[in-house]
Amino acid sequence: MNILVTGCKGQLGTELQKIATSDARHFWLFTDVDTMDICDKEAVEHCFSANDIDVCINCAAYTAVDKAEDESELAERVNVYAPQILSETCLKHDALLMHISTDYVFDGDADEPYSVDAPINPQSMYGKTKAEGERLIRESGCNHFIVRTAWLYSATGKNFVKTMLSLADTRDEINVVADQKGCPTWAYDLACALVRLLNQNGKKPVHETFHYTNEGQITWYDFTLAIMEICEKQCKVNPITTDQYPTKAKRPAYSVLDLSKIKAYAGIKIPFWRESLIKCIEELKRKQ
Ligand SMILES: NC(=O)c1ccc[n+]([C@@H]2O[C@H](COP(=O)([O-])OP(=O)(O)OC[C@H]3O[C@@H](n4cnc5c(N)ncnc54)[C@H](OP(=O)(O)O)[C@@H]3O)[C@@H](O)[C@H]2O)c1
Repeated sequence: MNILVTGCKGQLGTELQKIATSDARHFWLFTDVDTMDICDKEAVEHCFSANDIDVCINCAAYTAVDKAEDESELAERVNVYAPQILSETCLKHDALLMHISTDYVFDGDADEPYSVDAPINPQSMYGKTKAEGERLIRESGCNHFIVRTAWLYSATGKNFVKTMLSLADTRDEINVVADQKGCPTWAYDLACALVRLLNQNGKKPVHETFHYTNEGQITWYDFTLAIMEICEKQCKVNPITTDQYPTKAKRPAYSVLDLSKIKAYAGIKIPFWRESLIKCIEELKRKQ
């Protein structure tokens, strides 16, 4: 199959690039905003026609959660308008769209993991745009997998793990929110799961939504303690409440996603968050 990956310089796109280097089964085409802006309908159409695209894995997104409150127009262009372009183009070319969405489509008021069918109720501009992007993909009728994930991190790009490690190098103590619970996801694990879904499905018609994170649930505070322990950092970590750390965009208090559907559908065993965190930190150390 000819696979187009958008947003290839981001966290998830970078992990897909690593997998593709040892995957001779498919032809992979990697693009980012400098080579193909997903908001540019003509550029997208040209790319699909010129490369006979069978699958588009959309890793491109507007992901600046707080900035989205002030830049709603740009967030809408990338997270709503562009997925609509991609879905219409996929429909026209009979291609499969693999789209990534987020736990932020939920309100975070639950006390048990959100199932794929749980009602959405986004509380932030970012969450609203991602939810609208999902809706337009479903409505387009194109073949699609929508995979919601959460708390994504990797050895590249900006993310919580790297931020905590760099703070640990410059501060004696840090305050971290201890009343928000979710599940971290190593971008490499998600990339592997996407490729598995793809290989299993091939070009068969599909209209499915899944949840994928690493296994387990944890607060940002406990996650930070684990990062410090694994990296043997001496920095003291203090638990604080969400009220003590105000952010422009509201964060879900509880955003654990129920993984049972993807595990049953794709027959995958999902690694626990700590196991994957250790592997990512090993990669970070190799890069130093
Ligand atoms: N990060 C998380 O914690 C998290 C959590 C849940 C879900 N997700 C979802 O997971 C997916 C992957 O996230 P990620 O963390 O890998 O994102 P990321 O690191 O922010 O990467 C996104 C990439 O898309 C590019 N991009 C932005 N606008 C574009 C456009 N108009 N055309 C083409 N490319 C464009 C970005 O380029 P620039 O950097 O130049 O803008 C960047 O290279 C996204 O759908 C995101 O919503 C992420």
